[in-house]
Amino acid sequence: MCGIVGYIGDRDSTPIILNGLKRLEYRGYDSAGVAVLDNGSIEIRRDAGKLSHLEALVNDTPLHGKIGIGHTRWATHGEPNIRNAHPHIGSTGEFVVVHNGIVENYLELREELVAEGTVFKSETDTETIVHLVEKFYASGSNLEEAVRQTLSHIRGAHGIVVMSSREPDKIVAARVGNAGGVVIGLGKGENFVASDLPAILEHTRKAIFLESHQMAVITKDDVRLMDIKGTPIAFTVQKIAWDPVAAEKGEYRHFMQKEIHEQVRSLTDTLAGRVDFDKGRVVLHELKLDVERAKKIKRIIITACGTAGHAGMVGKILLERIARIPTEVAIASEFRYADPLLDEDTVVLAISQSGETADTLAAMEEGRSKGAMLWSNVNAIGSQAMRIADGCISMQVGPEIGVASTKAFTAPLLDMYLLAVYLADLSGTISPEKRFELVSDLAGIPSLVGQCLDREPDVLRLAQKFKNMNHMLYLGRGINMPIAYEGALKLKEISYIHAEGYPAGEMKHGPIALIDRNMPVVALAPKDPWYDKMISQIEQAMARGGEVIAVATDGDTLIPDLTDNIFWVPETPWMLSPVITSIPLQLFAYHIASLLGLDVDQPRNLAKSVTVE
Ligand code: AGP
Repeated sequence: MCGIVGYIGDRDSTPIILNGLKRLEYRGYDSAGVAVLDNGSIEIRRDAGKLSHLEALVNDTPLHGKIGIGHTRWATHGEPNIRNAHPHIGSTGEFVVVHNGIVENYLELREELVAEGTVFKSETDTETIVHLVEKFYASGSNLEEAVRQTLSHIRGAHGIVVMSSREPDKIVAARVGNAGGVVIGLGKGENFVASDLPAILEHTRKAIFLESHQMAVITKDDVRLMDIKGTPIAFTVQKIAWDPVAAEKGEYRHFMQKEIHEQVRSLTDTLAGRVDFDKGRVVLHELKLDVERAKKIKRIIITACGTAGHAGMVGKILLERIARIPTEVAIASEFRYADPLLDEDTVVLAISQSGETADTLAAMEEGRSKGAMLWSNVNAIGSQAMRIADGCISMQVGPEIGVASTKAFTAPLLDMYLLAVYLADLSGTISPEKRFELVSDLAGIPSLVGQCLDREPDVLRLAQKFKNMNHMLYLGRGINMPIAYEGALKLKEISYIHAEGYPAGEMKHGPIALIDRNMPVVALAPKDPWYDKMISQIEQAMARGGEVIAVATDGDTLIPDLTDNIFWVPETPWMLSPVITSIPLQLFAYHIASLLGLDVDQPRNLAKSVTVE
């Protein structure tokens, strides 16, 4: 996960920036860098690897200045090496930028800039930003305007911080979408900027959080906010308690809400370093797999509990459709006692956020004792499920604190997709054209998630309408059936409202008897191969007097004729649609629980890590 820290004031900025970056170190690193303005010119130090490498470099060749910006990177475009590390400097050496997010149209922009004579020094998408700022500045704009013009040319979600020796008294920061936050810390005669509050908390308790489509011009004595069209914005300064846990919550009321909003970033990080969009390939080094071993795999058994099990159900469909490997999903608490038939050509794949769930670990042991290959897809680094596996795909979501799992649900959905493409490629069961298509479909996912998050006010409205219900039925088919299960689980665990997830085609075999106006039906009906079937299910539910809440794809013309209660989601390739349809259901559960005044992050009777049987 990328981190940003910036400083402007009378102190030496380098140690402040390095300390701030250290606060974000738990997120992991593949390179880091710092740029300061020293006597009118920009000095940069960057290095690959952990922050300690950069610290050693700065010790050997110190740099000093009262204004500076720094960054830690998880590679998205280009290898994790020095050349691709941030900050990125323009051709004249007068502009420098650090960035979180992905410039989705960077290839096109890069081509245009190269045609105009720009020489690129890195393979990153970020470098296009600094060249654009430089170009607009050269055509007469000031720094603030040049950043604004740049934002109007780049697509995707971004957190950006820019500094220039041409205007050495300021830092310009901007946030578009949800590629991580931008927070400004206010000091006396000094100000700070960061992607995350903990990075600057040792210096100030006063913070301003940028919303999407906002910019800030930060000098040592002043901060101005404007939208990205340049209209000034009044802001409120938030006082942050010295409670590190509360501080971690930043602008959000609950960890769950924060974690829901972190998904643009966590999904970007999930793709980082594993997907080569230019070559249309996925590589999962951590699995330590080669062609020979991959070809031996005859069967995969995904084992997990709760939310992780729902991710496994989506994984089954992806592994079978893409890699053509027979796959089953086994609830870990059952599998451990099932005396399963396993052999060395079978993979037992455990999915677990904590990596410490007792049932999941026991299921893995069962796999081990019967000679199966053991893989895990785990978030908590160093956990048991990570350690005992022969190969691991680590989730790239950072700590998940809310008991109701959100970002550690969507990450394994992408992990399973990556695994399926990787296995299909190694074992030769996919054409290069199909592989390119599947890989390129991944590129837009973080920003589609961002679009769903931007629609939170619509979800809140429906949460207000349905918050006093006692029961809800969630229906889905095909790849979105597990999302019905997951949506229902989210609602019941934090709001204590009884909710059932059901395969929609099964409704007529029993649950239809329950439907009346006190039993709303949440119907997942995006434009996927099961869409027509879902429309009939919605009609059946409505014919019984049920109130339907539909998850529908933008532009759908049938569903608005059936119901007014719609969570609109952007169009998505169907195999990736569960990542997108999950978002409104997470927000729906969150807002209902929050409106009911419940303890969202620590719901009754539950634990984050279930280490008992
Ligand atoms: C998720 O919201 C639940 N709290 C729960 O179902 C959880 O997913 C399950 O206990 C498995 O946990 P794990 O991913 O840490 O193994």
